[in-house]
Amino acid sequence: MVEDQSAARIFRAAIVAASCFFCASASAQFPDAHDPPPAGWTGPVFRLKQDYPQTLPSLGARPWMSFDFRTQPNEYIKAVLDYALEGNKQVDFVVQNNSTRGWYHAPWMHAGAAGREFVRGLTRERSSRPGELHPNQTGTWENWAVSVYNPRGGFTLGQVWKDPDAPNPSVAKFPVGSVSIKLIFTEAPVSQVPYLAGSVEWQADINRANNAGPRPTLRLLQVDVAVRESRAASTTGWVFGTFVYDGNAPGATPWDRLVPVGLMWGNDPTRVRTAQALQQTKINAGLQIPQHLGFEKRLNGPVDNPRSSCLSCHSTAQIQNDLSRPSRAAIPPANATVQTLRLYFRNIKSGTPFDANALSLDYSLQLQNGIANWAQAAGPSSAPRGAAAAGAARGRLDRSRGVNIRPVGRDG
Ligand code: HEC
Repeated sequence: MVEDQSAARIFRAAIVAASCFFCASASAQFPDAHDPPPAGWTGPVFRLKQDYPQTLPSLGARPWMSFDFRTQPNEYIKAVLDYALEGNKQVDFVVQNNSTRGWYHAPWMHAGAAGREFVRGLTRERSSRPGELHPNQTGTWENWAVSVYNPRGGFTLGQVWKDPDAPNPSVAKFPVGSVSIKLIFTEAPVSQVPYLAGSVEWQADINRANNAGPRPTLRLLQVDVAVRESRAASTTGWVFGTFVYDGNAPGATPWDRLVPVGLMWGNDPTRVRTAQALQQTKINAGLQIPQHLGFEKRLNGPVDNPRSSCLSCHSTAQIQNDLSRPSRAAIPPANATVQTLRLYFRNIKSGTPFDANALSLDYSLQLQNGIANWAQAAGPSSAPRGAAAAGAARGRLDRSRGVNIRPVGRDG
């Protein structure tokens, strides 16, 4: 029985892997999900939005520019959220149906045990341990997420992955006005995390079942946003912010009950181990849901590792030109020295790598994980071929000497 199931799964995975050999257009180069839906499936099916803009889209509306993120953090981050929900919440984030603006998925997130499930395109995140989400929480619950980028961000994804056989990190520089939103869903039940009552519910193939029956129900727990910001140029060039769902908050729909946790535009590098108040993280003082924050109260979200922060973890987004060198750990070790902590809580400018000899992926860990998955899938001995060989000659990624990188999680 178990063997039958795994054989069926391998077969399904093989179909997914093979499907793009038959892709009719250049706009469908990348697989949608880890598995295709099983026979008889009648629920939603995730499709990767991969018709990335070929030319740089104009800046367009940027409603958050009416606010100063330093002094009006809640208003700023709410304006970003409203922009990202516009046209998306009405279509349940089937972004192909958004008539307001294009939103795009990062490729190569389908691979591996944490890879995109086929119903909603969710990838697996850090699990929440007992007590982390609420004192009533007794179980460890899985969390799964999906992210999309706006047109300017989607343009950059398309540039990096223009040649699907040879991603090009040298163009991984997001233009000002790029926005990404990430929806994080939890398996935790309302009985253990009461503030989840009335949240957005999605069924998803997180158990990778073979039958066409119902899938586990997940609830929207957290929403992350990242904005490439001209006014943050002196620190990182990015503003990262997060929301938590609060069932007791006012609001007609669950999307209206997302409450800002805070935002950050820098890692406060001069305040590592000083006990001084932070200047580049703003936490919403009115928050009712208890939060565990990140390192020395820098911003991170309820599913994140408390030794890190949004911008610290994302500042490690880079790739070594020589893929046979290991990736850098995304979070500092538990017993990190002050020197190591200072390395992780720097303000690294947009487009600058964490390590001097690496290529920056401009704070996008989806680009990093996608490239890691792509490199691993090809296997250590596969030499670049065709366009990839030409790309390698121009300094693109060359996996012919082996691959020693792996995707990172929100645990580091
Ligand atoms: C310990 C590491 C870690 C921390 C802390 C972290 N993230 Fe991420 N984040 C990731 C990884 C890994 C991915 C890519 C994989 C995925 O999307 O599942 C990601 C993806 C994202 C994305 C999608 C676009 C991209 O950059 O890849 C956004 C937006 C995002 N995170 C925002 C946030 C915000 C806001 C915070 C803080 C509240 C945060 N992250 C904290 C690891 C982290």
